[in-house]
Amino acid sequence: MTEINSAATLTQDGDVAIITLNSPPVNALSAKVREGLFEGFKAAIASPAKSIVLICEGRTFIAGADITEFGGAMAGPSLFDVQAMMENAPKPVIAAIHGTALGGGLEVALCAHYRVAVPSARVGLPEVALGLLPGAGGTQRLPRIVGVEAALDMVTSGRHVPAKQALAMGLVDELAQEGKLKEAAVAFANKAVAEGKPLVKVRENNARLEAAKGHPEIFADFRKANARKFRGFAAPEANIKCIEAAVNSATFEDGLKAERKLFGELMGGAQSAAQRYYFFAERQANKIPDVPDDTPIRPIKKVGIIGAGTMGGGIAMNFANVGIAVVIVEQEQAPLDRGLATIRNNYERSRTAKPEETEQRVALITGSLSMEEAFKDVDLVIEAVFERMDVKKSIFERLDAICKPGAILATNTSGLNIDETASVTKRPQDVIGLHFFSPANVMKLLEIVRADHTAKDVIATSMKLAKQIGKIAVLVGVTPGFVGNRILGQRQREAQKLVMEGAMPWDIDRVLYDFGFPMGPFAMSDLAGLDIGWVKETSHGETIRDVLCEADRRGQKTGAGYYDYDENRNARPSAFTEKVIHDFIVKTGANPRKISDEEILERCIYPMINEGAKILEEGKAIRPSDVDLVWVNGYGWPVYRGGPMHYGDQVGPEKVLAKMREFQATMGDAFKPSALLEKLVADGKKFSDIKA
Ligand code: 3HC
Repeated sequence: MTEINSAATLTQDGDVAIITLNSPPVNALSAKVREGLFEGFKAAIASPAKSIVLICEGRTFIAGADITEFGGAMAGPSLFDVQAMMENAPKPVIAAIHGTALGGGLEVALCAHYRVAVPSARVGLPEVALGLLPGAGGTQRLPRIVGVEAALDMVTSGRHVPAKQALAMGLVDELAQEGKLKEAAVAFANKAVAEGKPLVKVRENNARLEAAKGHPEIFADFRKANARKFRGFAAPEANIKCIEAAVNSATFEDGLKAERKLFGELMGGAQSAAQRYYFFAERQANKIPDVPDDTPIRPIKKVGIIGAGTMGGGIAMNFANVGIAVVIVEQEQAPLDRGLATIRNNYERSRTAKPEETEQRVALITGSLSMEEAFKDVDLVIEAVFERMDVKKSIFERLDAICKPGAILATNTSGLNIDETASVTKRPQDVIGLHFFSPANVMKLLEIVRADHTAKDVIATSMKLAKQIGKIAVLVGVTPGFVGNRILGQRQREAQKLVMEGAMPWDIDRVLYDFGFPMGPFAMSDLAGLDIGWVKETSHGETIRDVLCEADRRGQKTGAGYYDYDENRNARPSAFTEKVIHDFIVKTGANPRKISDEEILERCIYPMINEGAKILEEGKAIRPSDVDLVWVNGYGWPVYRGGPMHYGDQVGPEKVLAKMREFQATMGDAFKPSALLEKLVADGKKFSDIKA
C-alpha cells in the first residue's frame, strides 16, 4: 500500500490499481482530497496496473466540493486537473460508488470511463440548493448521458437519484451487491481490460444533445412549467442556461466556458451566500451546547396524541410514516371518527405512499375515547387541543397520573407558557414543547421548546425523533409566541399600522411577495379565513376586520375578504375594502399618506430582525442561524435571503439600527432597538459573529 497523502492511498489488487479516499465525514473535495486524487491517479497511471478503481471509505463516495472552501482562495490542484487526469487515463477508470455521489463527487465520477454502484447509493447534482450550479462540467456531461429533459430535472431539483434509477438512465453502468462494492468494481475493471471495452469519455458523446438541437421549446416549456417554483431564485435559471449551452455550443469546451462563467456569477452573488449559510445553519441546529451528542435517548415506540383535529391528525401522520404506532384520544366518538377519516383521506389524496403503504400507515393510527386506557403504555404524549391554559393544565394533571414513568409529556402549544403547564405535574423534567406547524404532516419546522426543568435526555430524544420524522428541529426557550410567532407579531403589527397610515393591503402584500414570501399577510388572512377568532355576536365594527366579516367578507371561502375573488380564487384589489380603510383613517382624524415600497419593507422587516436580536439577547434561541431556520421553514422566508438575521447582516446591522432609531423617534418604543443590536454595531460586528 502506498500512502499518497493523508486522504488517499494506492493499493494493487492483481492488475487493478485501487485509489481509496478517506477524508471524513463525507470525502468532500478539499485541497487535500484533490491532491490525493491527482497524485493517486498520476501514480496509478504510471504503475503497471492495467486498470484503476476509485473508491471511498466511510459513509459515502465523494459528496461534493468542500463547501467550506468556497469564497476563499483554492489551494492545490484544481478539480479540472483531476478530471482531465482521469478522463485521459490510458487505461479503464472505474468509479465505485456507495452512499452519495453528489455535486463535484458525481462530476468526478462522470470523468471515470465507467461507474459501478451499490443499490443503496444515490447520485445527484444538488448545487442548486446552494444557489449554485455544477461547476465542474456536470451541466455539460450530464445531458450527454441522460438527455436534456432528465438533465434539466436533475440540475434544477437537485434530487438524489437512487442507483437503480441511475442505472436505467445510464448514469451507472452496473449495480454491485451491497457490501461487495470493491470486489464488483475490480471484477468490472478486469472485464473491461479483458474485453477491450472502450475508454468512454462522456464529453465526446453528443448523440443525446443532437436530438435536442433546434428544439428551443424544450427549454421554454420547462421554464414555463416551473416558473412558480423557481420564482425569485437565480440558480435554477443559470442551471437551465448551462444545459442550453451544452446543446447549442459548438464544442464541449465552449459549453464548459459558459458553465464556468455562470458558476462564477452565482458564487459571487448574495443568494448563494445565503443558501450556503442555510446549509450549515441546518446542521448547526442539531448541536445543543449543554446537551452532548452522547446524551442517552429514550426509546419512542408508541405515541399518544390528544385531539383528532387538523393538528392532531397531521402530527399522527408524521409518526405513522416512519412506522411508529400512534393512539389518538378524543372526547367523543364523532370527532374521533372524523379525524381518523381525514387522515385516511389525506394519505389517499397525497399519493406519496403506495396503496399498501397507506394501509400500513393508517393501521398504525388507532383512536380511543379514554386517556386512561390509551396512554398507559405510550412513550410520548403530545397534547394538541385548543390554546387555553386552564384546559392544558387539567390535561397535564391527568397525564401525570396516567403515563408511565419516563414518558415524555409534550404540548403542541404555539405560544403558551410551558413552565406553567409543567408546574402542575410532579415530573416537570419530562415536559417539553413540540410546536408543529400546520399542516403538520407537510410543514418542515418543529420548534422544540425547552422549559425550565426539561431534562437533557428529553431534549436529545425530541431532537432525534424530529430528525427521524423528517422535520427541521430548532430548540427554543419559553417566551410568548416562542421564536416564530413572536417575530411574526412584529410584522403583523406594522402591516396593520401601515394600512391605517394609507398603504393598501395589496401594496403591502406585493412588497413582501416581491421580497420572496409566498404571500403577504393580508392574502394570508384571506386564505386562512378572516373570521378565525372573530365572534359575530360581539362584533361592533371596531376594526377593519370586524367590518369585513360583518359584510360577510370572511376570506377566500366566501369569495371576498381584504381582496375580491373571482370564481377561480384569483385575487383583485377591492374598492369595498379601500373604502372601509379610508373611513377608518378619517375617523381617527389622520390623513392617509403615500407610503413608499421601501418604507413598507423596512417597517415590516427591520422590527423582525430587531425582535430576533431581543430573542437572542434573552437566550431564547441558541444562535442567530436557529432564528433563521424557524423563519425559512415555518413562515416562508425566502431561503435565498437566508433568514431575518442573515438578511440583517446583509443589509448591515448599522443600517438596521439607524432605521430602528429613526422609527423609534417618530413612532415610539415599539421600535426600541435591542441591546444586542446596539452592542453589535458598537463593536463593529455582525450577527454571524455570535457563536453559540
Ligand atoms: N463540504 C463540506 N462539508 C460538508 C459537505 C460538503 N460538501 N457535505 C457535508 N458536509 C459536512 C456537514 O457540514 C456535516 O458537518 P458537521 O458534522 O460538522 O455538522 C458533516 O459533513 C455531515 O453532514 P450531514 O450532517 O449532512 O450528514 P448526512 O449523512 O445527513 O448527509 C450528505 C450526508 C447527503 C452528503 C449531506 O451532507 C449533503 O447533502 N451534503 C452536501 C452535498 C452537496 O451539496 N454537494 C455539492 C457541493 S457543491 C459542489 O460540489 C460544486 C461543484 O459543482 C464544483
